Amino acid sequence: MGKFDPLQPPASLTWDYSDPVNGPTLPAPFFYDPQIFAEEKERIFMRCWHLVGHVNEFSEPGSYVVQDIFEQSVVVTTAKDGNIHAWHNVCRHRGNRLMNERRGKVGGVLRCPYHSWCYNLDGGLRAAPRTEHLDNFSKEDHSLRKVRLEIFAGWVFVTLDPNAPPISEMCDGAEEKMREYLPDLDNVELVEETDVIVNANWKVIQENSIEGYHFDLSGPVHKDLAALIDFQNYTLTAHDDWWTYIGPPTEATEAYGKPLEGATWQTDSFFNIGLFPNTTFYSFPYTDMIGTFIMIPLGPEKSLLRFGYYAPKGREVPEVTKAAIEWMNKELGPEDIELNETNQKGLHSMGFGQGRYLIDESRPNQSEHLVYHFHKLCYQAIKE
Ligand code: FES
Ligand SMILES: [Fe+2]
Repeated sequence: MGKFDPLQPPASLTWDYSDPVNGPTLPAPFFYDPQIFAEEKERIFMRCWHLVGHVNEFSEPGSYVVQDIFEQSVVVTTAKDGNIHAWHNVCRHRGNRLMNERRGKVGGVLRCPYHSWCYNLDGGLRAAPRTEHLDNFSKEDHSLRKVRLEIFAGWVFVTLDPNAPPISEMCDGAEEKMREYLPDLDNVELVEETDVIVNANWKVIQENSIEGYHFDLSGPVHKDLAALIDFQNYTLTAHDDWWTYIGPPTEATEAYGKPLEGATWQTDSFFNIGLFPNTTFYSFPYTDMIGTFIMIPLGPEKSLLRFGYYAPKGREVPEVTKAAIEWMNKELGPEDIELNETNQKGLHSMGFGQGRYLIDESRPNQSEHLVYHFHKLCYQAIKE
């Protein structure tokens, strides 16, 4: 690794990542350059697995969820026989977007709002008004087009790439980790979904969530989080296409403004697992819920941050868990989003260019080795 001048913005969009400890960070233009963003779209997001929701959202025939991936849109439906399918969310007549709500439930058909072509929940075209006099028209030729779907650890994923490796192969070992920390993985239901627009590159949001360096150095809410865990033993572990960051429990007496005495919870650790590129499942300390945290790119400097909260079915959501959800939405989330947006602004500065990772084996809980790992996966995906 040669020397680098941190004041000199890189002339080219290449990155020598051979020395994480002494070398430079991913160059700043990777966080705003439209050409890089276009490459990420084609080489990462058109090929990866996208989280749609939990299988329990599809337990009843007619349930559907729409997942947009850039200009593409996929609708996942439950058929009469209970099978879950994914379709390109477009009518085969003249290309109208079929379903326009994020989720819902239909009777027996997906109906196009334009000329009322109706599709069965298994994708077949059931009715196409006034087509009976057309020559060479057969409904069989106009079924919805299928999208690849897999269920992994109880969660429904789709990919637009017919050749993507199975998600279970890509995330070998991840399900075991999830089952270790999330005992109700198969038994949860969605209680809340919140979308927030963040004026930052999707990677800026990801970076922030996968390092503990800023926990006790940034805002007051972060310090509260650090106090809820045994921060000295916060452990961030990289696997190939997935990673975990786990804070063991500490002797807390209250959390999220609520006393812990008499409270109930399933998970006392701060457990997080990230799947490349943009899916995170987590559980806050002393809660009975699974959170999902998805960074959906909308533009080079604009992302949709989607927070999902899933709680065990048939059990009342404990007060401490409700407080944790509120705390994430109103306190921790905004404190991080503010950092995401100021970070995004700074990346444009002529006084930056490339930075330096804090990677220190003697401070593993505060080290940025996962940030490096994630940057490397992104860089390799688009440039190699
Ligand atoms: S575009 Fe859907 S029915 Fe015409
Ligand atoms: Fe943070």
